[in-house]
Amino acid sequence: MLRRIYEERYQHVVTRISVLAVIVILTFLISAGSTFAQVTETLQVPKTLQTSESLQKVMQEAYLKFKDVKDGATADYIPELAKVPADLFGVAIVTAKGEVYTIGDVDYAFSIQSVSKPFTAALVMQEQGDKAILEKIGVEPTGLKFNSILATQIIPQVSVNPLVNSGAIASVSMVQAKNADERFNKILSFLDDLSGAKLSVIEDVYKSEAATNQRNRAHGYILAASDRIYSDPMEAVDVYTKQCSIGVTAKQLAVMGATLANGGVNPVTGKRVIDSKYVPKILAIMMIAGFYNESGQWAFNAGLPAKTGVGGGIVAVVPGKMAIVGFSPRVNDAGNSVRSMKAIEYISSQLGLNLFGSGK
Ligand code: DON
Repeated sequence: MLRRIYEERYQHVVTRISVLAVIVILTFLISAGSTFAQVTETLQVPKTLQTSESLQKVMQEAYLKFKDVKDGATADYIPELAKVPADLFGVAIVTAKGEVYTIGDVDYAFSIQSVSKPFTAALVMQEQGDKAILEKIGVEPTGLKFNSILATQIIPQVSVNPLVNSGAIASVSMVQAKNADERFNKILSFLDDLSGAKLSVIEDVYKSEAATNQRNRAHGYILAASDRIYSDPMEAVDVYTKQCSIGVTAKQLAVMGATLANGGVNPVTGKRVIDSKYVPKILAIMMIAGFYNESGQWAFNAGLPAKTGVGGGIVAVVPGKMAIVGFSPRVNDAGNSVRSMKAIEYISSQLGLNLFGSGK
């Protein structure tokens, strides 16, 4: 009898304690939940970026909106490029987490051309530090065409910056190697690591450009005459020409860009390719000179570091988030792909990706 009384009292106490505990836990969870909501609110990326569906949707809209634009023409100063089917069009996005979104002709291998230039500059930084680029090449924009001889005469550094032809030839000459083959293979394997793929030269494009690149040879000699080239000048021009002829798909190029977006680690393979301290330097050069004489307009419209190539590719980088690639062979007078440019600008504005503010 006495035992039963004890048990009943004891049970009563236990029930009270349990109710109290539940109240305490619930209060904690509710306040933690609202703090979490506040934090995510503050860190919030633009609403449209929140789901992969919206990313896919905006990319599809861009593709459909510009699919039928026929402005510009395939570059013909490299005869082989004029043969590329002009209607090809693809858009690829690879996020800094390695998610891949694509639409259109994203598996067609086109020549990388000038899109290779920032990556070779990155390789030089890896080997010799970023100051080597600043001091031995330069980082000033020109407001002139990518192959301007005039720019090399009015800008004291002569090589100008690593994204115009003269600076890109100088970059190639700085890659540490005993001979041309070693130099080229270093560049190729660096691009392999960046793309997570085995890339190779499109031989017809290489032969076609090598037979018609008198202007780049002039750049080589001007650099040599000014002590601004660091290997045999014609060897550097040849390796540069080969580098420009490397075939890449929009999807592979987007992985290369995503490696920059991800602070130098390829988000698909997980391999660190570029030291994180060099990534902002590369992006800065892309911002001021990635579109040559249209770099100002591009910054104004898209607000993203990017690089174009006469093969029709453009890669834009949203640091910490993603790379957006457009591929379309018709280029304008500045050598920039018309539809790629429009598609990336559209995606940037719809997703509020402009680095200077989304304006939303
Ligand atoms: O040296 C050249 O003229 C070409 N291999 C690369 C030029 C280029 O891609 C200009 N960019 N839009």
